[in-house]
Amino acid sequence: MMKQIPVIAIDGPSASGKGTVAQLVAKSLGFHYLDSGALYRLVALKATQLNIASTDQILLATIAKNLNIEFKNQEIYLDDCIVTQDIRAEQCGILASQLAAYPQVREALTERQRKFCQPPGLVADGRDMGSTIFPHALLKVFLTASAEIRAQRRLKQLMEKGIDANIDILLHDIQKRDERDSNRSVAPLKQEIDARLLDTTSLTISEAQHQVLSWYNEIEQKNRAWT
Ligand code: DC
Repeated sequence: MMKQIPVIAIDGPSASGKGTVAQLVAKSLGFHYLDSGALYRLVALKATQLNIASTDQILLATIAKNLNIEFKNQEIYLDDCIVTQDIRAEQCGILASQLAAYPQVREALTERQRKFCQPPGLVADGRDMGSTIFPHALLKVFLTASAEIRAQRRLKQLMEKGIDANIDILLHDIQKRDERDSNRSVAPLKQEIDARLLDTTSLTISEAQHQVLSWYNEIEQKNRAWT
């Protein structure tokens, strides 16, 4: 039997730190990394550049299908321009969350995401990695933290970048985004029954990284014992 490419799916709400943890785990294992949220943000950025209404599902899906993007040397390119920072803007995240509720947009991005699954393995983070994109993932993690802690982490991140922000507004935005991402009818954000819960409210990044690695090693060892 052909050996499957191992996938670690890390899903969770906005600002939970899943991106940081996923990148560190990928680095430790020498695996590829997929930031699926970046794809939705790229659609949002392109739609903004083209002045497309957030309600135009057909056009948004067409954009998603035809995105000209590249992930190279830690940078993200859209139409050959570096947009790594641009897609992190709060407005881009809000629009990404709105258009992510459209089934045609999600479908248009499905194959693109699966192509990231290359040897020796993949760590993918998002909302539906374990439920929809990589349902056969070797390890599924639902990484979360309280909304208050996530707002504080986001505030710290913004302040480090010299961006002024208000904790109450950040908390409100996070709660609204959670609600939209969790209540949409397609691929909503939720903990799958086969996903392990990792609550990072009182964990450091390094502790969260090592917990994921330890779960992965445990599964790997079990698999080896069976073959
Ligand atoms: O992870 P993020 O904040 O960069 O994601 C931005 C938005 O994209 C998020 O609010 C919901 C959407 N998203 C999604 O629906 N499915 C994913 N797998 C990743 C992100």
